[in-house]
Amino acid sequence: MRIIKAKDYQDMSRKAANIISAQIILKPDCVLGLATGSSPIGAYQHLVEWYGKGDLDFSGVTTVNLDEYRGLPRDNAQSYYYFMHEHLFGKVNINTSRTFLPDGMEADQEAACKKYDETIRSVGGVDLQLLGLGHNGHIGFNEPGEVFEKGTHCVDLSERTIQANTRFFASEEEVPRQAYTMGIQTIMMARKILLVVSGADKAEIVRDAFFGEVTPQVPASILQLHQDVTVVADAAALSKCGELL
Ligand code: GLP
Repeated sequence: MRIIKAKDYQDMSRKAANIISAQIILKPDCVLGLATGSSPIGAYQHLVEWYGKGDLDFSGVTTVNLDEYRGLPRDNAQSYYYFMHEHLFGKVNINTSRTFLPDGMEADQEAACKKYDETIRSVGGVDLQLLGLGHNGHIGFNEPGEVFEKGTHCVDLSERTIQANTRFFASEEEVPRQAYTMGIQTIMMARKILLVVSGADKAEIVRDAFFGEVTPQVPASILQLHQDVTVVADAAALSKCGELL
């Protein structure tokens, strides 16, 4: 695991965007695994800006997103489909028929998960997977549990995650209670992983996930066992790692 220290959110975002753009330049037909949440927004802004300057071409890129709320239609402003179009897909020359997310409106859980696993397989797997980090150590929506979940599955969101995501909704009641997410095994099969994390409120979980025991109770801890992980973290997020770095 490579940990790159960034000064602050802006610096983290620029460094992460540089890594993503290097991937696109080196392999223009790459498959990017993408994430939502506030952590990657700054990186997406840089990518959009560099596309605007003519430095990046998304025409050959395929994307698969980590997760989607169950029961939110695509035109709901809080759906991850909407988020991706707002922050990236609608602003660059990506072929939107090559952008994939789990179908949050598919009521049949098994069908939704199977279909998404098949999609990931059919695009040839992920070259570079971008991840954020939940306060409880979740990646995608893989919540702390007894086992590392394998493929795409439907998750009951933890109370902590519902609370953390309430800020995006009018009230806590409106936050969906379930989501479809790629599993840990799928995430671990990505050829490269890039995790971005920022802020003092993540300092404890950064220490536990990357320097603590590998356990399903801290889903991101499994990343310690991946052969090509880059973590770009700002000073506040690394503030509890001290001499471990
Ligand atoms: C959500 C997403 C995760 C994301 C996490 C952290 O739960 N499903 O993919 O990493 O939130 O979000 P933020 O970056 O806003 O802290």
